[in-house]
Amino acid sequence: MVINVAIDGPAGAGKSTVARAAAKELGYIYVDTGALYRAVGVNALRNNLDTTDAAAVSATLDKITVELKFADGVQQVLLNGENVSEEIRTPDASMAASNVSAIPAVRAFLFDLQKNIAKENNCLMDGRDIGTVVLPDAQVKIFLTASAEKRAKRRYDELIAKGTKVEYNNVLEELIQRDYNDSHREVAPLKPAEDSILVDTSDLSLEESIDKVVSTIKEKIG
Ligand code: DC
Repeated sequence: MVINVAIDGPAGAGKSTVARAAAKELGYIYVDTGALYRAVGVNALRNNLDTTDAAAVSATLDKITVELKFADGVQQVLLNGENVSEEIRTPDASMAASNVSAIPAVRAFLFDLQKNIAKENNCLMDGRDIGTVVLPDAQVKIFLTASAEKRAKRRYDELIAKGTKVEYNNVLEELIQRDYNDSHREVAPLKPAEDSILVDTSDLSLEESIDKVVSTIKEKIG
């Protein structure tokens, strides 16, 4: 039987780092679904579209392909065959992703891709609506969160380490805006699935967060 683990939660809770490490420890593939929304967002930005314009963004969908490739367990995202794994990580791409993810046609466009990966692989899938919409039958559902300030500080440190020039207050403001967008949109808003297990990483180190997630999964699947 294929094992599916859903990990949802707000931006910057450490989901991707924690989920990637936990997947490695368990021997599952790690699927970062945010990368898909980011690729659609980057495509809209490249075409100088207003990323909140549902009609304009929806009209791009039959002209693009978005794919995920796994090389040595590392996910790469391809937009029209081009590897955009780096370009999707800028603050502009984050906001574009949040905007396009509120568009129902975009969510529908990316749905089958996510379903099909989960059908065929033991995977740990990270996103906002994995436990509630994409994989409602996942054997384990975790809602990973932390305070907005802790999350903004982590995101800020990450961007600075990459050499991106940012201000902490801007990172915090953007994160609060994204939280609001993600949890107030009409389709598939960010919220814990009823049967999810809450893991708050505000006061946990990275190692402790990974241990907590791995032990939660092991306990649940026996
Ligand atoms: O996880 P992330 O920050 O890379 O996600 C980028 C945006 O995509 C985020 O603002 C919300 C959206 N998203 C979503 O709506 N559903 C998902 N399953 C994953 C991400």
